[in-house]
Amino acid sequence: MDYRDLMKQAVEIRERAYTPYSGYQVGAALLSKSGKVYRGCNVENAAYSPGICAERTAFVKAVSEGEREFSAIAVIGGKAGGPLELAPPCGICRQVMREFCDPDTFEIVLGTGPEDLQIYTLSQLLPMSFGPENLKKQETV
Ligand code: THU
Repeated sequence: MDYRDLMKQAVEIRERAYTPYSGYQVGAALLSKSGKVYRGCNVENAAYSPGICAERTAFVKAVSEGEREFSAIAVIGGKAGGPLELAPPCGICRQVMREFCDPDTFEIVLGTGPEDLQIYTLSQLLPMSFGPENLKKQETV
């Protein structure tokens, strides 16, 4: 899928962000290896910590529908009513990506709009990471 189209989906879903506390709206569009797009926005909460980021909303939607393999995510942010801005994923979201995505091939598409994209691999944004294989039992010989 063209990353401009993936970013367009992130821009569109960002409109659904529920952000009465920060006023900062984020949209994410997650592309599964099966070719489907799962979209998420940030959803805040009066108790603050139950709030969830756009990227994790997209992952939770996708995984709960049975997806486990992903190729890319587009993310965009910005204050409500203001211009679209580059929105690098927070550390917790990067770690959630690490659970399901290959660090060397999964691509994170950032930018200020569909015509202004910057592409990073997960390993560029989360170097020397801890992942599922760290908990796998050692092979015995
Ligand atoms: N936010 C995201 O949705 N994704 C990120 O990766 C960074 C931050 C949200 C959380 C909160 O609702 C708002 O942006 C301000 O931090």
